[in-house]
Amino acid sequence: MTVRITPSILNADLANLAAEVGRIPSADFVHVDVMDNHFVPNLTIGLPVVESLRASVSTPLDIHLMIAEPDRWAPGYAEAGAESVTFHVEAAHAPVRLARELRAKGTRAGVALNPGTPVEMVGPLLGEVDMVLLMTVEPGFGGQKFLDLVLPKIAAVRKQVTAAGLAVWIQVDGGVSVETVERCAEAGADTFVAGSAVYRADDPDAMVRELSSLAAAGFARCGH
Ligand code: DX5
Ligand code: ZN
Repeated sequence: MTVRITPSILNADLANLAAEVGRIPSADFVHVDVMDNHFVPNLTIGLPVVESLRASVSTPLDIHLMIAEPDRWAPGYAEAGAESVTFHVEAAHAPVRLARELRAKGTRAGVALNPGTPVEMVGPLLGEVDMVLLMTVEPGFGGQKFLDLVLPKIAAVRKQVTAAGLAVWIQVDGGVSVETVERCAEAGADTFVAGSAVYRADDPDAMVRELSSLAAAGFARCGH
């Protein structure tokens, strides 16, 4: 079983995105945080920037939509060539239809849950998605403190995915660092967003590799 590191560019230099992605060649995907100032109290970038980034870098793109009305907006990111598009279950009106639409456009479909959203919300969707994103901070900003209360949720989703024999990836996002990545992997996460931990490191790519080896060790230790 492999683990994946998907660094977030939220805390990178947004005026030099392609160069910033170039600093992390070991990344498996680049995690792009789209915020609309409605679903979360912050505003970042949208489809035109993602289209430009897709044209400028070869690293697969992992789009995290923290937006209202994902049913309306998410398919455009798939059409722009993003390899993975994740919408929030709290925001989607028709999550099954949306996941199917994304997959039909050739992208991986992900569904995200805020820290306070119960995992029961995603159980019925597991057969319809390629990834479950469990937020380990309240979404909206980088650099927040990891919320341990999400660890049992990771374990619960891992149990369901394993029991169902599915190949759904389990991603964690928020406060992931050398201090917290092993705990997440031990609980059953296999895909790790890290923003400030990577871009505030002296050597971002070395941090990606360090997080990857810590995560792989934690994941293996717990027999996932
Ligand atoms: C927060 C975003 C995260 C953020 C993570 O709402 O979804 O992807 O960039 O940043 P860190 O790793 O600094 O918590
Ligand atoms: Zn994110």
